[in-house]
Amino acid sequence: MESALEWHTAKALLDWQIEMGVDETISDGPVDRFAFEAAAKERAAEAQAAVPQRGQTAPPVKQPKIDPIAEAEKAVAGVKGLGALRAALDGFPHCDLKRGARNLVFSDGVPTAKVMFVGEAPGRDEDLQGKPFVGRAGQLLDKMLAAIDLSRHDNVYITNVLPWRPPQNRDPKPDEIAMMLPFLKKHIALVNPDVVVIIGNISCQALLGKRGITRLRGQWAEAAGCPALPMFHPAYLLRNPAAKRDAWADLLELRTKLEALT
Ligand code: URA
Repeated sequence: MESALEWHTAKALLDWQIEMGVDETISDGPVDRFAFEAAAKERAAEAQAAVPQRGQTAPPVKQPKIDPIAEAEKAVAGVKGLGALRAALDGFPHCDLKRGARNLVFSDGVPTAKVMFVGEAPGRDEDLQGKPFVGRAGQLLDKMLAAIDLSRHDNVYITNVLPWRPPQNRDPKPDEIAMMLPFLKKHIALVNPDVVVIIGNISCQALLGKRGITRLRGQWAEAAGCPALPMFHPAYLLRNPAAKRDAWADLLELRTKLEALT
């Protein structure tokens, strides 16, 4: 057992400490300040190693990778109507085309129509008006429809694969088509037409997974669970009037199909 200091010895020790300059007591136990200093130096060295040195670039900050197709599928998952689908498209931030477009081009025509036409992407006039097929190609499309007693005012619904105009009307890129496809499939499911008409190569690529409209046109296929008829794009017909014969044959085929459904 430790014996207590004798009073005179304790007093002598205290006097000695005061003589050495001690004027304050801080704690009961001794503190090793050399150990503190060593730990502080170690922390400073670690912090210094993390700072990029001159000529060294900072390590990239890892961003979580976004999968736009998965995001599109999530965006349409709970959508129950065309208004909600339009709002989901409007709020979709992952397609760069949106930044360069003036308007979202969603659709035109009668949502309860038996026939739904799917074009490629808006051009300048469509971007300005926010409606599909209102430029020169659209005017020809209206004439083609009228030739078999169809009209967007009475019995046809029209949309595009892409709702935003690509810059300088360039072809849509495969990743742009892929991220818009969940929206298009939902669009077709909500309208639930008896027949889909697939206009042009880009739309064939999106809905049938293949191009080659010259071979595909006039041949019935299936798109998003509906009977689908690929046709030449009216813009192509404006450049190649000789192809109007084939387009007329396809229109007659469409009319026959629609009559069989009534
Ligand atoms: N071409 C298309 O494919 N869609 C439009 O809306 C206009 C031109």
